[in-house]
Amino acid sequence: MSNHKAFDSAYKLLNRSIIRYKDQPVGTVAALQSESLVAVNYAECFVRDFVPSAFVFLMQGKIEIVRNFLQTVLSLSAQQPVMKGHERAMGLMPASFKIVKDIDNKDRIVADFGERAIGRVAPVDSAMWWMILLRIYVVNTGDLALAQSPAFQQGMRQVLQLYLKESFETSPAMLVPDGSFMIDRRMGVAGHPLEIQSLFYGMLLAASELLIANDENESILATAKHRMQTLRSYVRIYYWLDVRRLNEIHRFGAEEFGPDAKNLFNIYPETIPDWIDGWLPNDVGYFIGNLGPGKMDFRLFSSGNLLAVLFGLATEEQATQILQLYDIHWDNLIGNMPLKLVYPALSGKEWSILTGSDPKNVAWSYHNGGNWPMLIWMFVGAAIRAGRDDLARKVMDNAVHRLHQDEWAEYYDGKQGDLIGRRANLNQTWSATSIIVANELIENPNSVALFESLNF
Ligand code: GLC
Repeated sequence: MSNHKAFDSAYKLLNRSIIRYKDQPVGTVAALQSESLVAVNYAECFVRDFVPSAFVFLMQGKIEIVRNFLQTVLSLSAQQPVMKGHERAMGLMPASFKIVKDIDNKDRIVADFGERAIGRVAPVDSAMWWMILLRIYVVNTGDLALAQSPAFQQGMRQVLQLYLKESFETSPAMLVPDGSFMIDRRMGVAGHPLEIQSLFYGMLLAASELLIANDENESILATAKHRMQTLRSYVRIYYWLDVRRLNEIHRFGAEEFGPDAKNLFNIYPETIPDWIDGWLPNDVGYFIGNLGPGKMDFRLFSSGNLLAVLFGLATEEQATQILQLYDIHWDNLIGNMPLKLVYPALSGKEWSILTGSDPKNVAWSYHNGGNWPMLIWMFVGAAIRAGRDDLARKVMDNAVHRLHQDEWAEYYDGKQGDLIGRRANLNQTWSATSIIVANELIENPNSVALFESLNF
């Protein structure tokens, strides 16, 4: 295979990224670049970054490290520090953790629940990824006993108790602060961001499969199942945007009070951004980025959309249309290095207000319109699920070779992702693992379990 060297290098990076606790492998660091890491915490194991690593280990039959990771993260959730006098709920899981040596040379795990993170962001997505990964692990290994053990059952209950607690929601969508998921800086993604809704749905599905139906779980299971259904209908209807819906919004009346309102969120047609004019031909659509009172974020967020396809949150028709959108707008959304995290970028005053003038997130860079190779596995999985194997193959075309050449860069800048990101790490683990996973999904019929574990 012509990409042989690239895959070899990707596997090597993964193996070098493994971290150990008391001689046992427990995770992988986010990036390996000892001298010049952009931020010190890239040398930690991030929960979300570990997911594609876990896929590769499961493919290789190295199940121990995935099991250890799941156990480690679970045990850490009981050790949350008090943050500025504020005690946090059980059920929150850390964004990342690292192993340090104590004075007596003993290993100690230090976790970050946001109290060390830049901007002190809350890692809302961690417990969701943890539970989704637990299901992936069970489907691939058959080790249901782990999920059914008392510690894991209790852990899942605690997560659900936190995530299903009524707060200030006025819909089944989950309300979160800015930067509480993969986009972990201020980016105008507070409220009800799509990625959180997709992960929430995936987590509820995982929980409803893994929680034993007994007296202790009965009530939380019923709540989880109900929320899953209401969330699904809500996202499918209100987050969906195609030409028909756009036309409805374009002609919306506003200031409607009471139960018969059509414009539920009081969206003014004037908020429709210019770039969307002519952008959506018939038969394509996508889920918008955020929805709330007087607010529709029309930006396309790739991970939320692709995860919605993978987890079956999107209907089959919606999945087809989402992939069709990428096909039609290939140059803008996939570009020269797959693929856009968010489209389009914020600039000018909007950038200044929504990002807090964050120089790392200037237009067409990093989270704000940068291209992220780690999304390739999600794209390939979603494309295969939607019957678009042609797009799955096409996305890999130049990416593998170039990523290898660019030493597994973290992200790319520019409207079409031409440039290695200004502050991108090299040897970014999930850029390498994403390629391995995507290739496996495309090339290897034996990866059925891997793929099925993604099909909720
Ligand atoms: C950045 C990303 C975050 C990722 C971390 C480690 O902070 O925004 O999603 O987990 O880097 O790669």
